[in-house]
Amino acid sequence: SQIQIAVFVGSLRKGSLNRQMATALAALAPPGFTFKQVNIGDLPLYNQDDDGDQAPQVKRLKAEIVASHGLLFVTPEYNRSIPGLLKNAIDHASRPYGQSVWTGKPAGVIGVSVGAVGTALAQQHLRNVLAYLDAPTLGQPEAFIHAQEGLFDAAGHIGTASKDFLQSWVNRYAAWVTQHQVGP
Ligand code: FNR
Repeated sequence: SQIQIAVFVGSLRKGSLNRQMATALAALAPPGFTFKQVNIGDLPLYNQDDDGDQAPQVKRLKAEIVASHGLLFVTPEYNRSIPGLLKNAIDHASRPYGQSVWTGKPAGVIGVSVGAVGTALAQQHLRNVLAYLDAPTLGQPEAFIHAQEGLFDAAGHIGTASKDFLQSWVNRYAAWVTQHQVGP
């Protein structure tokens, strides 16, 4: 059976480089893996008053995470941290208290930036959050992708300069997810 990966993109921008990256990474997925981008743009702002009666979009988000075998975060860096969009989704799926759906889900973190540090600081903040949520996160290799001419080819696939690196990153990530599956 397929190993389902829930992919979270931290940008809603139409031309998002991170969304392009998420789509291109899915094309590098090894056999047996399905990468599916999860919609987080329709969630209300998190409000603890609603914990007892979560919105349908939140229930749908949580169900998609429960059904997944692994998590992949592809996010830009906003002001040296993760975008509010992504934090909002993380907070929603962590509640009500004791009913977080992140627990134990193997995760990977990657991002594209036009800035020189290539999302390193956002990734570090995200790792902190995922550690607290008990989602085991791939440590190495790190992937801080600097957006440059040729990052994607005309078909939207990873360009030649980064292809080998990102294929090996995806392979390591897939092995990490496999290693964390429980049961036979
Ligand atoms: C940015 N950008 C940015 N880049 C970076 O490397 N470090 C940063 O702290 C920030 N901060 C930041 C804040 C806000 C509000 C915006 C809108 C942008 C630039 C960012 O890397 C660039 O816009 C990317 O293209 C955003 O990713 P998507 O939307 O292309 O996926």
